[in-house]
Amino acid sequence: MADLSVEFAGIKFKNPVLLSSAEPTFNFEAMKKGIDQGIGGVIAKSFTDVEALQELVNKPEMSLLDEDHQVVRGKIPGMYTHISRTAFAKESLDEWMRIIEKSVAYARERDAVVIGSVAGGSMDSWVNISKRLEAAGVSMLELNFGCPHYGPAGTLGGPVGQNDKFAVELVRNTKKQVSVPIIVKETPQLSNIVASVGKVYEAGADAVTLTNRFLGLALNIEEGKPYIHGVGGCGGPWVKPFTLRAIHQVARALAIPISGSNGATDWKDALEFMMVGASTVQFCTAVMVHGYGLLTEILNGMSAYLDRKGYGTVQEIIGAANQHVLAYSEVAQLAKERYQIDEENCIQCGACVEACFYGAIAWEDESPRITDACLGCSFCSSICPESAISQSKKTG
Ligand SMILES: Cc1cc2nc3c(=O)[nH]c(=O)nc-3n(C[C@H](O)[C@H](O)[C@H](O)COP(=O)(O)O)c2cc1C
Repeated sequence: MADLSVEFAGIKFKNPVLLSSAEPTFNFEAMKKGIDQGIGGVIAKSFTDVEALQELVNKPEMSLLDEDHQVVRGKIPGMYTHISRTAFAKESLDEWMRIIEKSVAYARERDAVVIGSVAGGSMDSWVNISKRLEAAGVSMLELNFGCPHYGPAGTLGGPVGQNDKFAVELVRNTKKQVSVPIIVKETPQLSNIVASVGKVYEAGADAVTLTNRFLGLALNIEEGKPYIHGVGGCGGPWVKPFTLRAIHQVARALAIPISGSNGATDWKDALEFMMVGASTVQFCTAVMVHGYGLLTEILNGMSAYLDRKGYGTVQEIIGAANQHVLAYSEVAQLAKERYQIDEENCIQCGACVEACFYGAIAWEDESPRITDACLGCSFCSSICPESAISQSKKTG
């Protein structure tokens, strides 16, 4: 059986599957449920000292929407949008530390890692909460620079991640005061994610989580009103390509260890995040939707894949796909691919003719024909309802 253990920013994890900082890690009982599934670690719910945000946690709102943006009632669709507005841990700092201490003790006995998460309201409180979490025994700290719910004066949430100067100062100050590795959790709403991560890396961040959620808005057109009364953190399986791009670009440009978050829902997604450079993968929404048991399924799926493919260790797949992700300039040098229509399966529906925006599929004797004008984009083969279009031969 393949070895699932990974090293992430100097800390050994028995496997790369983590439970994200969120409602599924809201208290000891919640973290215990994750740890009991055998995952590598849990990231405790973010702690803040901003009262307004602590109060907001008493008024959470969440909607799970289907492909038509209607509230899901019953069977969970494969593609969904989860939009929510919650807040942070509502306990006092002392109470929260007792929860962390208990979780750390429970996790240690099961070879799992507890990571503390911080969302301070001022420079001082970011550092103070970090110090308290370290004293409570966490193995790492995650600084939540990516929360979609913004705090006062831009000192909390997405604005911290977007304000390179403040983020750098905060990482430097925290680094001086704590010795456990620091992970910066970024917002996906950065104009240049590589540049922003580069700055916090230089300032001393030991790792980065890519990413927290987008801020979104979902509307109920029957009522002409938003779900959850306003904007909220928005995600779901459809986010995965954006996260893959972020992980890939950062992994290519920088040596900083990466934890993938945002849009992973099963073991295949976990492997995708790892193949572009993540050392660990976090799950949140999918666990909220399908339950903690999903984590065991993810571990089993990952193991079975690695065994089937003959990998000795999961470390081998980290970043393995990046060499195949070509730059635009490299793509231009590739040989053209050509496509052909299988006449026996073609039902002459014309979908391919309509879908070829390069005008390369023409009607000939009432059947579509791919002409020499084909540029090899392959879109027609996706559109054909009979799978009657396939790649033919390569030309120069
Ligand atoms: C209800 C809810 C609460 C969340 N709370 C936090 C939080 O306290 N701290 C944090 O860093 N991220 C928080 N997140 C973000 C998640 O940790 C995670 O990064 C995000 O949902 C994307 O991952 P996913 O696609 O696996 O859900 C929250 C997400 C949800 C849905």
